Amino acid sequence: MEGQALREARICEQTRERNITAEERPVFHLSSRVGWMNDPNGFSWYDGCYHMFYQYHPYDSHWGPMHWGHAVSTDLLHWEYRPAVLAPDLHYDHAGCFSGSAVTLDDGTQLLMYTSVAQTMDENGKRRDVQTQSLAVGDGHNYQKYHGNPVLGKDDIPDNGSIYDFRDPRMWREPDGSFRMILVNNDKYEGGQVLLYSSPDGFRWKYERKLLVNHFRFGKMWECPDLFELDGKQVFLFSAMDMIPKDFEYHNGNGTVCLVGSIDPVTGDFAEEHDQTIDYGIDFYAPQTVVTPDGRRVMIGWMQNWDTCNLHMESRSWFGQMSVPRELSVRNGRLFQQPIREIESLRIGEPYRGTAEVEDGELFMTGLSGRIIDMEVEVEPSEPDETFHQFAVKFAQDEICYTKLGFRPKESVMKIDRKFSGSRRAIIHQRRAKVRHENGKIKFRILLDRFSVEVFVNDGEQVLTATLYTDIAADRISFVADGSVKVKVTKYDLGA
Ligand code: FRU
Repeated sequence: MEGQALREARICEQTRERNITAEERPVFHLSSRVGWMNDPNGFSWYDGCYHMFYQYHPYDSHWGPMHWGHAVSTDLLHWEYRPAVLAPDLHYDHAGCFSGSAVTLDDGTQLLMYTSVAQTMDENGKRRDVQTQSLAVGDGHNYQKYHGNPVLGKDDIPDNGSIYDFRDPRMWREPDGSFRMILVNNDKYEGGQVLLYSSPDGFRWKYERKLLVNHFRFGKMWECPDLFELDGKQVFLFSAMDMIPKDFEYHNGNGTVCLVGSIDPVTGDFAEEHDQTIDYGIDFYAPQTVVTPDGRRVMIGWMQNWDTCNLHMESRSWFGQMSVPRELSVRNGRLFQQPIREIESLRIGEPYRGTAEVEDGELFMTGLSGRIIDMEVEVEPSEPDETFHQFAVKFAQDEICYTKLGFRPKESVMKIDRKFSGSRRAIIHQRRAKVRHENGKIKFRILLDRFSVEVFVNDGEQVLTATLYTDIAADRISFVADGSVKVKVTKYDLGA
């Protein structure tokens, strides 16, 4: 039943969205209907379309008591908003309906599980958020909170697990129809951990075991776990808080981690074989995945990060976008990501194709420009045995602003740099990744929308994502070289 709080949220979003024109939104990324958006939630295929719910505060473009917003799509690029589905209005979730997931029940309804947050005083009189797990059942439009909520609470947490950090349930169904769910928890002595639960019907849940324990290796606490089989491997995704950096693989603060390994069929233990960052850029967090009807595993993340979400345009009454949907694969034990192939349907007209030599300076190729583009760039040294020092692409460029993707083959480093993108905040503007190349030969694909850039290096071996707030008219593209570089470009303009 729609309570008063949800009714008000729905009126708020309907009223306020009228002040946002289509031009003020990204072209092919999902943005908050109004107000604030963070994590993707309940990303699913249900009743003939994809559903994306999201952490949502419709009243303000800053984080506040969390609701669940809702949008649907048939290609993951064109989205239609539906009314918000959850508001924090009951005694067990009055401080927020935090992140969670969705599965389809046998009777054809959809089951949502979310983290219900309630404020209490701890033994020292300090106000604390207690986290439990709750359910809601619905039809793709309206969802009713389950009368037995919360279904998991302090009695379902193993010893030393925190009741304040117990969140982000990720459910799935086993081939026999039974239900499993993982969530994250914080152990006093061991740091972030992933717990496994099971249920015969989606409503009665039982703690099974610890699936992963952090030992403070990746930050202090994990968030938003996902686990699935892909190309014969088990893939674990999670977002880590308070990380310390490791080379160029992990950066300080909030980051994303992918573990690739296998699960022992007898013991159920996860044997890790490889770890990597999911996105090496500035703005990416809390991804979720879905399986498409034709069997592809597709991931969407919040195209922001807690450490950088102060780069706000206060004139805008929405804040928060989702990344482009990315098709995942595991190759040679590593996670690869490619923009969802449906993006090709957004290409307008014939591509721009060109080649050039850039030598110790900056080059604007005749006829090459664009602000909402899909551009593939291949570079190599002009002389095979004379590796250049640096190569860069500058895009979203006018007289004052540009964003730069730089590559230094001698250090094998690629850098995204939005320092000159028009930002007026002293936040993180650059990030580097170690990349693979053959003596300076490398290729990458740049997806540029009104407020973001996503770079897919070496067919998606690595991705670097950043939000941008540069004037939409800034559409120049140039190449810069220190040394002599051969460049090959294929660029498509993209449109809705
Ligand atoms: C991750 C997160 C989740 C939580 C939600 C609250 O970005 O902190 O752990 O459920 O955001 O909005």
